[in-house]
Amino acid sequence: MKLIAANWKMNKTTQETKDYLEKFLGLVEGIDGVDILICPPFTSLCVAWEILKDSKVKLGAQNCHYEQKGAFTGEISLDMLKDLGVSYVIVGHSERRWIFGETDELINKKIIACLEKGIRPILCVGEKIEDREAGLTLKVIESQLKLALSGLEDVSDKIDVAYEPVWAIGSGNPAMPEDAQLVHSYIKELLGKVRVLYGGSVNPKNASDFLCMPDVDGLLVGGASLDPLSFAQIVKASCADKA
Ligand code: 13P
Repeated sequence: MKLIAANWKMNKTTQETKDYLEKFLGLVEGIDGVDILICPPFTSLCVAWEILKDSKVKLGAQNCHYEQKGAFTGEISLDMLKDLGVSYVIVGHSERRWIFGETDELINKKIIACLEKGIRPILCVGEKIEDREAGLTLKVIESQLKLALSGLEDVSDKIDVAYEPVWAIGSGNPAMPEDAQLVHSYIKELLGKVRVLYGGSVNPKNASDFLCMPDVDGLLVGGASLDPLSFAQIVKASCADKA
């Protein structure tokens, strides 16, 4: 099943979250055959779960800490997230890697912790523009995957991978669907039958161009997921394309 995921990043108060989700649930009513995921900020998880718990829309977090509890000021554990209805966590998003200095080693610890707790990680990988221009895209992706999954047996059915080229995120300049397809098929060559999402300037107009690629198994959407109507249109594009 395809997965269409919203990453709200640092957006929306609790009231904005409620307003969005009440509208969104109406817009996706009756839609089947696709996994839908909303990842609001931590502060909105509680109100989001109240609204989503009886629906088919799943709740995710944008980050987690790998330890169970303790002296880690400002961090959130997986038990805390599970308690709020979270079933997915985005791990290793490029904004975490490049703005907050997350290393592959840290990302590996988070993936292991998610798997131990039964929370499904969405592992984000992606090259910077200078890597792409130097022809290093596949090397970078391979290295990020190997390090993030180091020490783990085959986990291809327990995680999702999101290919998000750093230069395509929030830039209005998405990857060419054919270029994304090449990277997605390479990821599957390395990991086996894993679900691979594309992310980076996805919008209601281009969503189906990605979804019709054979190895694009879903989308991770930032900016265009902040409006319920626009995100619902992207979800609907996945259904139109299911064949
Ligand atoms: P945009 O859709 O805003 O480019 O963001 C993509 C992203 O980073 C999703 O995780």
